[in-house]
Amino acid sequence: MNNIIYISVLVLFLSLSGFSVVNMTLLRPLHAQTEKEQKPDMASGPAAVIYRKNCASCHDRGIMGAPKPGEPRLLGDIDTLVANAIKGIGNMPARGHAAFLSDDEVRSVVEYMTSPPK
Ligand code: HEC
Repeated sequence: MNNIIYISVLVLFLSLSGFSVVNMTLLRPLHAQTEKEQKPDMASGPAAVIYRKNCASCHDRGIMGAPKPGEPRLLGDIDTLVANAIKGIGNMPARGHAAFLSDDEVRSVVEYMTSPPK
């Protein structure tokens, strides 16, 4: 009688742990996909990548008044915006402290910021 209880506890334990392992492997890719869907602004593409690495730290949260992507201030004259991003303006450091970015790269990021993917 004791043996039967022991074995059924063991079987229960094994099936539970086996179940959770299967669950984790099945859920991982699903979870990754959901995360991607929830963060469409993580879109790849060089401008988005440069933005993430060099500009998002200030611009995502509006640090020191940095305009967030899609904000009206970024809908002004694109040449002026690009020029200001290159030489710096107010608390905006020249090229966002990323001196290695070419003028064209800064322009592509500013264009990305004016109309980030929804
Ligand atoms: C250290 C924080 C910081 C980083 C990093 C930063 N910015 Fe800014 N940015 C600001 C702030 C603050 C302003 C607003 C400046 C002001 O009030 O005049 C601004 C303003 C701007 C503007 C608006 C300029 C205008 O004419 O109105 C553009 C465009 C811009 N940033 C682009 C970028 C780009 C592109 C990058 C990355 C390469 C970047 N910024 C990185 C802080 C930052």
